[in-house]
Amino acid sequence: MSRQIPTSDPQIVLGLETSCDETAAAVVALQNGRARVLSSIIASQIEAHAPYGGVVPEIAARAHVEVIDHVIHQAMTQAGLGFQDLTGVAATAGPGLIGGVMVGLLTGKAISLARNLPLVAVNHLEGHALSPRLEADVPFPYLLLLVSGGHCQLLRVGGLDACERLGSTIDDAVGEAFDKTAKVLGLGYPGGPAVERAARTGDPKRFDLPRPLKGRPGCDFSFAGLKTAVAREAAALGTVTEQDIADLCASFQAAVGDVLVDRTRQAITAMALPEGQTGRFVVAGGVAANLTLRSRLEALCDTFGWSFFAPALAYCGDNAAMIALAGAERLAQGLSDDLDAPARPRWPLDGEAARAAPMYKTGRKGAKA
Ligand code: KG4
Ligand code: ZN
Repeated sequence: MSRQIPTSDPQIVLGLETSCDETAAAVVALQNGRARVLSSIIASQIEAHAPYGGVVPEIAARAHVEVIDHVIHQAMTQAGLGFQDLTGVAATAGPGLIGGVMVGLLTGKAISLARNLPLVAVNHLEGHALSPRLEADVPFPYLLLLVSGGHCQLLRVGGLDACERLGSTIDDAVGEAFDKTAKVLGLGYPGGPAVERAARTGDPKRFDLPRPLKGRPGCDFSFAGLKTAVAREAAALGTVTEQDIADLCASFQAAVGDVLVDRTRQAITAMALPEGQTGRFVVAGGVAANLTLRSRLEALCDTFGWSFFAPALAYCGDNAAMIALAGAERLAQGLSDDLDAPARPRWPLDGEAARAAPMYKTGRKGAKA
């Protein structure tokens, strides 16, 4: 259960993130609405999962247990603070792999209880949604394109607990499509950075790949057909050369870019801002680290006269600084959670839209709305 507590300024919050394959801890200070990252530690489990070509939930949960104490110690040391200096502790409570989420959330609860600190059970997606506010002044409301391994959504972010879903993927998440593309081309895991690297020397026009839902009404996405088309092209080539791989990656990335730009254009139009009002657009999540996609979305914003924001590359993928910030912003509004806060494998940002039109999907983090 959440409850209202007295608030203070500054907020200095320890954040914990364990919802997938990164064990992360960070300390963020929030003063007069301005955030400062005092430390951000990320222990990646990439090597543990690499042999399986994807995240294995049981391995992830065990690995979080093994390193979380050490990661927290590093975050506190780097921040130069003791637990007595904190004003709160925040932990991802979902959505994500339940075993991993429980490790971070229970650790947060233990610190809260032992140090008498307020606890915030953070929605991981809210962390991504707020991530550009770690370093820039991005006032509400804004249009958010959330692109990660488990999600692809367009949302109007009006404030904390005030997200309205404009569109969502009807099948795969965009990060998943990057990962699958990398897998069929033998580029390893995680696929996004590898595909982006290979695409640099490729011809984006060589393969005529589909642009699912492009030009259709609404703001929904679909990537399953594109993913399959890449696999079909790769199979048709037989033995693939370095250049084939580069060309396929570049063609794939161009198709993804076309789709993201088209769907975002729809959302900008749907927001229907009054004349003279400048809109703000944020792209966040692991895929937001892709420089080609960033610049295409920035160019789209330019044509509408909208401001473009994206988190620094270090805060695109999963990290605890965004969780600490979400916790600090909630505590600054007097919002905190009780120690019975549940771990939630599914936890949509816009609960109302998800209930009205559920889009269940088995993603990198398991089934979620
Ligand atoms: O946000 P994130 O770290 O985890 C989730 O919440 O899912 O996103 C991970 C996803 C992976 O699918 C990864 O391949 C993708 O983000 N990704 C990228 C890039 N870097 C990471 N996709 C495209 N280009 C990149 N540079
Ligand atoms: Zn994430």
